[in-house]
Amino acid sequence: MNIITCVAPVNIAVIKYWGKRDEKLLLPLNDSISATLSVQQMHAKTTVMASPGFKEDKLWLNGKEETVHNQRLQNCLQEIRRRAKQNEDDKVNGVSNWYAHICSENNFPTAAGLASSAAGYACLVYALAQLYNVTGDISGIARQGSGSACRSLYGGFVRWHQGSACDGSDSIATQLAPHSHWPEMRILVLVVSDKRKKVSSSSGMQNSVKTSELLKYRVSHCVPKRTEAIIKAIISKDFDTFADITMKDSNQFHAVCLDTFPPNVYMNDTSHAIVNLIHAYNSASGKTKVAYTFDAGPNACLYLLEHEVPKLVSVICQIFPPENEGVQYLQGIPVEKQAVSQEF
Ligand code: ADP
Ligand code: DP6
Ligand code: CO
Repeated sequence: MNIITCVAPVNIAVIKYWGKRDEKLLLPLNDSISATLSVQQMHAKTTVMASPGFKEDKLWLNGKEETVHNQRLQNCLQEIRRRAKQNEDDKVNGVSNWYAHICSENNFPTAAGLASSAAGYACLVYALAQLYNVTGDISGIARQGSGSACRSLYGGFVRWHQGSACDGSDSIATQLAPHSHWPEMRILVLVVSDKRKKVSSSSGMQNSVKTSELLKYRVSHCVPKRTEAIIKAIISKDFDTFADITMKDSNQFHAVCLDTFPPNVYMNDTSHAIVNLIHAYNSASGKTKVAYTFDAGPNACLYLLEHEVPKLVSVICQIFPPENEGVQYLQGIPVEKQAVSQEF
């Protein structure tokens, strides 16, 4: 029996992915950009086993057995086994013919808008690649589990290229800059609610593609310019521009969610109070010191530089005392060097 355990961090997009042009291959309508968080804090941990004695594939998520008859999981398994077979001498009895048992746990809320699908599928595909001896780019396989997962395979600042090929071969992630390029960058995660979202990212974005006019405008007129501008800001370490674009893109993504019919309301009153607080904090500072961004959920991710962390944390503690408002926060998480890795 072969057995491998891996850990993978979450990534938080500053240019959001929202909308697919191909539902089967998970090909996006636009490029997206993110930073990968330290694996020490929020991560998925996945153990995969393969044995010639197993009769079927099996999956446990957070201690509960789940069905493996899920198209995305099947696509990842099939693609890993297809690639494994190419490298194998014994095509009949080789490991690529063995079934797998998969056991994964997240140490943070699942399906609450904190990128569990990204950490989860990056970890799963990376672990399977180790197990079945698959080499080369695997971000295109992780993408078929959950789009945002392709970005969690790399550390630092990452770009997912939408690509143009029908088979998805160029819809992959690449690193824009390593964490060492901007080592002062920190992300503060404010957990407003750990409940599962009512509408998953997948079905939420499917409905936006069907019904939102604003999504079309966003994809054609806004994201390409913002992508180029934020890459320049990252390369030149221009925090002001980086923060400005990050906040505007989060706001536009949630505007698209409201323009969806029926609307997807992911942010709540506490989320909006956090937005107001950050704008007040920045204007009192006379400079943009902090940027907020919200995925498909009410929880806030704040981008800021290291020297600003103690001051902001003390303001947040005063305004949202964890015991009263229920906002729990994770202190100043650095951008990750290594991203996904195997545990020994
Ligand atoms: P999130 O905002 O947390 O990414 P999504 O709606 O995008 O929420 O996806 C949640 C789904 O991702 C879960 O219902 C589950 O199917 C999958 N998922 C989450 N964590 C893992 C994991 N560790 N391993 C495999 N799949 C996972
Ligand atoms: C708002 O990657 O979770 O977090 O590809 O359908 O699994 P699927 O969706 P998912 O969507 C993430 C949406 C987002 C923005 C982002 O991470 O870019
Ligand atoms: Co997700």
